[in-house]
Amino acid sequence: MRSIHIDLGKDSYDIHIEKGLLDQAGQYVRQLTSAERLAVISDDTVDALYGDRLQASLEQNGYDVRRIVFKAGEESKNMASLADLYQGLADADITRSDAVITLGGGVPGDLGGFAAATYLRGVPFIQIPTTIIAQVDSSVGGKVAVDLPSGKNQAGVFYQPKGVLIDPELLTTLPVRFIHDGLGEVIKYGCIRDKYLFELLEQLDDTTLSEHWDEIIERCCTIKARIVEHDVLDMGERMLLNFGHTIGHAIERCYGYGYYTHGEGVAAGMAMLTAVTEEKGLTEAGTTARLDAVLQQYKLPVTVSAAPQQLLPYISHDKKKRGHRLTLVIMNAIGKSELLPIESKDIPDYVRKVGGE
Ligand code: NAD
Ligand code: GLY
Repeated sequence: MRSIHIDLGKDSYDIHIEKGLLDQAGQYVRQLTSAERLAVISDDTVDALYGDRLQASLEQNGYDVRRIVFKAGEESKNMASLADLYQGLADADITRSDAVITLGGGVPGDLGGFAAATYLRGVPFIQIPTTIIAQVDSSVGGKVAVDLPSGKNQAGVFYQPKGVLIDPELLTTLPVRFIHDGLGEVIKYGCIRDKYLFELLEQLDDTTLSEHWDEIIERCCTIKARIVEHDVLDMGERMLLNFGHTIGHAIERCYGYGYYTHGEGVAAGMAMLTAVTEEKGLTEAGTTARLDAVLQQYKLPVTVSAAPQQLLPYISHDKKKRGHRLTLVIMNAIGKSELLPIESKDIPDYVRKVGGE
């Protein structure tokens, strides 16, 4: 068992990582809550795969379990689904001394976490993430949200879980595109903070990766935990986690959500920006070539066909933009990164094809 403690004062919690943990979830949940009843929020794909096993483990540990299931996919991360979840929690008679478990990827985690944060002004919740994105990123750090018609994650709060239970074995059923999608974020952690992780990924490939999931997830969660401990409200250091995201989000929006996955957008965003910062002497020579190689090794894009001019309008709406300034995250060398505030007028100089205009 690998465990990481995240120290957030009264909101502190542990992240446990072990293959087969799903079947022992009841014992761990027992240590986290004295609730009598648990609402397990999941999507229909994950519920069909893992809902019965989780319910069995919880019931063996004396819980009265109610399952609340919504349709899988980002399209469900909205106010209508949230209203359905509130109704499901009310129908299940969930009280503030009970608890919610979110079982699934980032969508059940964000949507179910937001429901837990706001139902009855807050019911304790526990995350059981089942995708790479969720196991290395979204289940840790307390950002929960729903999408609005005007943008992704626009209604949300910070609400920390009581614990995170990660079973890497659950990744065996994840479709390959979601594996690569998640690897975009894993490579990001290597870039910003962990040269060892980056070099491990350079040595592995699609077939050998699965033997190393526990270690990879532990390294990513440890980086995220340490960053969140310093900056839980995302005012400074936590922005490092957005490496590749400024251009990545612009790519996702420019092509329409779903064409490029989030991890693919981040991959191209990291590669395009690093090519520019290396040319400017802000990044160690040779870094772009290594980044491009590792991204391509995991079938991730290093650029897109859209012209920089097509991406720029979406960057002017970036959440990291404040007034006339935008904070970029740049990689100085593999495993080292910094925040680089730039003037809005200079954005086109960082969002361009290297060697081009
Ligand atoms: P997701 O939850 O929609 O999962 C992707 C797909 O994989 C779904 O169809 C799901 O049913 C399926 N799936 C999940 N686990 C599976 C498994 N083990 N086997 C087979 N299929 C499985 O989305 P995601 O990719 O996990 O996460 C993306 C979401 O996470 C976005 O909404 C994003 O905004 C959010 N996010 C949040 C944070 C945060 O800090 N809160 C960070 C990153 C991403
Ligand atoms: N996923 C970025 C963050 O949690 O800040």
